[in-house]
Amino acid sequence: MKHEAIERHLGLLGVLVAIVISIAGLVEIIPLYFATETTEPAPGILPYAALELEGRDVYVREGCYTCHSQMVRPLRSETERYGHYSLAGESVYDHPFQFGSKRTGPDLARVGGRYSDDWHRLHMVDPRAVVPESNMPGFPWLADAPIDADATPRKLAALQAVGVPYSDAEVRAARDAVAGRTELDALVAYLQVLGRASRNWETP
Ligand code: HEC
Repeated sequence: MKHEAIERHLGLLGVLVAIVISIAGLVEIIPLYFATETTEPAPGILPYAALELEGRDVYVREGCYTCHSQMVRPLRSETERYGHYSLAGESVYDHPFQFGSKRTGPDLARVGGRYSDDWHRLHMVDPRAVVPESNMPGFPWLADAPIDADATPRKLAALQAVGVPYSDAEVRAARDAVAGRTELDALVAYLQVLGRASRNWETP
């Protein structure tokens, strides 16, 4: 029997298994490149303003993603707590995305607008000043750290190169947009924009 012949020849079996897996993989992966819902921005999603982008870089550098996800799953317990579940089209301008998989703290995908700027500033410098039972570490140095404004236009230009639709004028204006601001200003601006667009989406 042919089947028996395949099972008796380990090399042949291996080759055939590899072929089947490759085809199955392509069938799953190729459509993703053409699905507009993963490649087009979700309604209301805009590229980050220069200050927000700097804040995102602080978020990545400080490792906030090791305790916070940005991925609301389509489960009732999640949507009732956080809001609309996350869409792939929300992350099209994120390089790299910040989905995360660890939730020592709450998901942050919908945190924008939930607290005032002042609350975030206090919370970032000393979390226990506003949430007494918090075990989040403080990040007090951000308040005194100036943004390296000379680097900001290059960051926008790099994102422009991978398809984020910044205009040349926006790239040129980026330096002045962040000059004199601190890393804490940037981080708070970033947190306040998270999930902003989703508030206009119909509740799931
Ligand atoms: C060691 C884990 C840990 C790290 C690292 C961490 N957090 Fe948190 N975070 C928490 C916990 C726990 C809470 C819940 C208690 C609280 O509000 O302080 C929280 C709460 C928050 C909240 C309030 C969310 C809400 O919906 O109430 C924000 C905003 C936040 N963190 C931002 C950040 C940012 C920005 C960073 C990186 C600079 C960061 N966190 C790093 C653990 C962490």
